[in-house]
Amino acid sequence: MKVENLVVGVIGLGMGRAHLEGAIKYGAQVGLICDTNPAKLKEWGNHNNIPEEKWTTDWHDIVNNKDINVVIIATPDQQHREQIEACLEAGKHIMCEKPLALTREDIDAIVKAVEAHPECKFMVGQICRFTPAFVKAKKIIESGAIGDIYFVESEYAHDYQHMFEGGKKHWRADPVRNGVVGGGCHAVDLIRWLIGDDPNEIYAYGTHKLLPEVPYHDANIAIMKFPNEIMSKVFVSTGCKRDYTMRTLVYGTKGTLIFDNRSDTMQGFFADEKGHGASGKPVIIPVDINNHNATAEFKEFADCLVNDTPIATTVYEGAKTIVACLSIVEASNTGKIINPDYNF
Ligand SMILES: NC(=O)c1ccc[n+]([C@@H]2O[C@H](COP(=O)([O-])OP(=O)(O)OC[C@H]3O[C@@H](n4cnc5c(N)ncnc54)[C@H](O)[C@@H]3O)[C@@H](O)[C@H]2O)c1
Repeated sequence: MKVENLVVGVIGLGMGRAHLEGAIKYGAQVGLICDTNPAKLKEWGNHNNIPEEKWTTDWHDIVNNKDINVVIIATPDQQHREQIEACLEAGKHIMCEKPLALTREDIDAIVKAVEAHPECKFMVGQICRFTPAFVKAKKIIESGAIGDIYFVESEYAHDYQHMFEGGKKHWRADPVRNGVVGGGCHAVDLIRWLIGDDPNEIYAYGTHKLLPEVPYHDANIAIMKFPNEIMSKVFVSTGCKRDYTMRTLVYGTKGTLIFDNRSDTMQGFFADEKGHGASGKPVIIPVDINNHNATAEFKEFADCLVNDTPIATTVYEGAKTIVACLSIVEASNTGKIINPDYNF
C-alpha cells in the first residue's frame, strides 16, 4: 500500500483538526470529516479545502464508507470505546486519541476488540512520544549518557478553568473523566516510556481547591515504584495558575536531564571522569518546540500501514498508562497503596 491509498476519516474536529492536517501534509486522502457541530465542519473543511460533500455530522457515515480505510478518533474520551468497536467491526485501521478510555471495563473491552481484529492496525495517540524535547531526552537516555535511571519526575499542569465558565456543561466535568486519567495520562505515559517499564506500586494524594465545577480532585501527586530500584513522582493539576507545562527531570547514575514541552532548550548535567556531578555546569541542548506534533504522529501510523512496521503505542501501551492513572485515582481516594493489574 502507498500513502496516497490511505483514505482517512476524522471523527471530532477539536484535536482532530491537527490530525487531519497531519494526514493531509503526509499525503493521505481525506475520505470524510465528521463533527456534530456544523460550524466546526465549515471552519475546518473550508480551511483545508475539503468539499462539502465530504462533511458529515454522523460518525456512522465514516464507519459505513467502504473507501475509508483509516479512522482517526478524536471525540470526547467517553465515546472512544463505542467508536473503536464499530470501526474495528467495519475493518478500519484506527488511530485513537489518548486516553484510550476512562474505565477499566472499557479498557478491557477495547483490548479484546483489538485482539479480535488482527487485520486492523491500532495506534493510541500518546502525542508526548513525538514532542521534540521528549524524543531527544529518550535518545540521550538510550545512549547511556546519564547512566541508569533511578528517579523520574514529571507533571501535567494545565488550567482547565475556562472550560467550565458560564455554567457550560463540559464533557471534562464528568466524574470518570478526572484530571489524572484525562490529562495526567500524558505525564504518566511519558514516565513509563522514559523508564521503559511499568510502575508496580503507587501511592497518591489529591486536593480540590481550584475547580469547584468538577467532581474530582483538581490536583494530585503520586509516588510510583518501578522495578530495578527506580522511583518516580507525578504531579497533575487541572486548575493551576500558569501556562500549560510538563516539566520533567530524569536522574541517572551518571547525569541528569531537565526539560519541558514549552522551552527551546533542555539542560543536561553530566558527571566528570571521577563521577562527580556537583561542579558541572549545565550543558544547554537546543530543541524544537512542537507540543502537538500530530504530523509526526500520523507519519508513524502511516509508515506502519504502508511498510508494515510495528506500532510503538499499541493498545497495550495505551491500556497500561490508563491502568496506572486509575491506580493513582484509587490511591488518592482511598489512602491505600495500589498495585496496578496489567493483565488484560
Ligand atoms: N493529544 C493531545 O495533546 C490532546 C489534546 C487535547 C485533547 N486530546 C484528546 O482528544 C479528544 C478530543 O478532545 P478535544 O480537546 O479536541 O475536545 P473538544 O471538545 O475541543 O473537541 C471535540 C470535538 O468533537 C466533536 N464531537 C463530540 N462528539 C462527537 C460525535 N459523536 N461525533 C462527531 N463529533 C463529535 C465536538 O463537537 C467537538 O468539536 C479527547 O479524547 C481528548 O482527551 C488530546
